[in-house]
Amino acid sequence: MAARLFAVPTGARVVSQPHLRTVVVLAAGEGKRMKSALPKVLHPLLGRTLVGHVLAAAAPLAADRTVVVVGHGADQVRAHLAEIAPEATPVLQAEQLGTGHAVRIALDVAPDATGTVVVINGDVPLLRPGTVAALVEAHEGAGAAATVLAAEVPDPTGLGRIVRDADGRLEQIVEERDATGAQRAIREINAGIYAFDAARLRDALGKLSTDNDQGEEYLTDVFALLGSAGEPVAVHVATDHVETLGCNDRVELAALRRLLRDRVNEAWMRTGVSLLDPDTTWIDVTVALDSDAVVDQNTQLRGGTVVGTGAVVGPDVTLIDTVVGPGATVLRSHAVGAEVGPGASVGPYAYLRPGAKLAEKAKVGTFVEVKNSEVGAGAKVPHLSYVGDATIGAKANIGAATIFVNYDGVNKHRTTVGEAAFVGCDTSLIAPVEVGAGAYVAAGSAITQDVPPGALGVTRAPQRSIDGWVARKRAGTASAEAAARAQQADEDASAPGFRASEGEAIHGDAEPVGSASGAGDTATE
Ligand code: UD1
Ligand code: MG
Repeated sequence: MAARLFAVPTGARVVSQPHLRTVVVLAAGEGKRMKSALPKVLHPLLGRTLVGHVLAAAAPLAADRTVVVVGHGADQVRAHLAEIAPEATPVLQAEQLGTGHAVRIALDVAPDATGTVVVINGDVPLLRPGTVAALVEAHEGAGAAATVLAAEVPDPTGLGRIVRDADGRLEQIVEERDATGAQRAIREINAGIYAFDAARLRDALGKLSTDNDQGEEYLTDVFALLGSAGEPVAVHVATDHVETLGCNDRVELAALRRLLRDRVNEAWMRTGVSLLDPDTTWIDVTVALDSDAVVDQNTQLRGGTVVGTGAVVGPDVTLIDTVVGPGATVLRSHAVGAEVGPGASVGPYAYLRPGAKLAEKAKVGTFVEVKNSEVGAGAKVPHLSYVGDATIGAKANIGAATIFVNYDGVNKHRTTVGEAAFVGCDTSLIAPVEVGAGAYVAAGSAITQDVPPGALGVTRAPQRSIDGWVARKRAGTASAEAAARAQQADEDASAPGFRASEGEAIHGDAEPVGSASGAGDTATE
């Protein structure tokens, strides 16, 4: 079974104290700077949406309740949550009156919440489960009223600053727009991830003012309120500030994508997967890879894709929800919802669509499209074919340019090709139709009736060659001239007294007529 690095988040320690826990994810904001019809938290990032990453980071907390505050694009966000986190409760914040207001609304649907309330901004997708767990553990261990996750960052622009007193204790969190010059120089920032004691949070939320530059209720003001009331407030510093990066526009989203790519790729390489060019390899966090799989450059592995041991994928491959068996190869191809069996080979330039299932050692070669079809063990479809709604038996050979004609304009029909059958090049198999086991189909046939096992199916009209047609109908063309020369050479060769050495001398100086003699051959395998 291929290892899964991120589907079940690792590195997290599920803190097992007898606290009731509530997770609140803030996802009502518009994300104006994304300039998108899609709500910010629904933008995708290597296999999950932004909010999906945040929920995954919180999952190991095993919260009793998860509340997601929705607002902008509420219907879209709700629909997404129903898919990825049906246990979460969406709560509508109709007007975005601030992060404090958002948490107040969230707690309205959790009036019985006691213990710890973990609040996470919906746009911090690089957050690790282990970091959230460590924050909660520190908070609960210290019996704090409120703990904020902080980080020292190279550029704190736009973020809330952690203001400490002379003893290093948290005094307040101040937004940049409300900060003094001295406060702006602070590089320790609020990551937007917090743990609170439920009762004391609820109490402080009731006392928030809107006396700030944005006229909003700031969740961050809870810290100064609790601190000045003598309640213990704490700062938990993240070891890797990259985890706390938020996403405000598409440039930042692209930067986060690169950072996450590097994290994912490094983790896979450490488990024994070869990535030949990590900079051009994009692996969703939901993908599973076995050790000794090889991923070559410019490759994207997405969704529920699984790659087995010893398989080689790439260069230039995109696999979406596709399972690649051990030892298989996939080269310069695109696959969606497909299965590639052990030792099978795909490409270059193949397109596998949903329901394409290649058994062990099957081959789907160059410019071949396969949809909703089984290709049996060791069967080959090497060149230029369309295989739709078909079952191809083991060891069958499908000649170049064979088309499985599955669609009559209204309905789709299936074709069956039996074990070790041989279908000649440029054949149309017009479904529904069956080619029996061990049967042959002559190249160039249009097959509309079943071919019994062991029979030869052939639908070709007898060939006619109409002598002199080119001279009559295409006089003066290069074809006519070439034909005349060939006929003359034939006549000379059969003339009485012709000697081989003369003939050779003549033809040795002329255009090498024989040079095109191989052009009619067709590779079939
Ligand atoms: C917030 C923090 C800031 C911190 C930063 C980290 C406050 C007042 N400030 O600032 O100290 O450094 O996050 O990224 O909290 N949201 C709602 N409803 C609202 C307002 C916001 O759900 O009414 C959500 C947003 O969708 C977002 C999150 O809360 O997911 C944070 O809101 P945002 O406006 O981005 O706050 P920042 O100004 O970044
Ligand atoms: Mg923000």
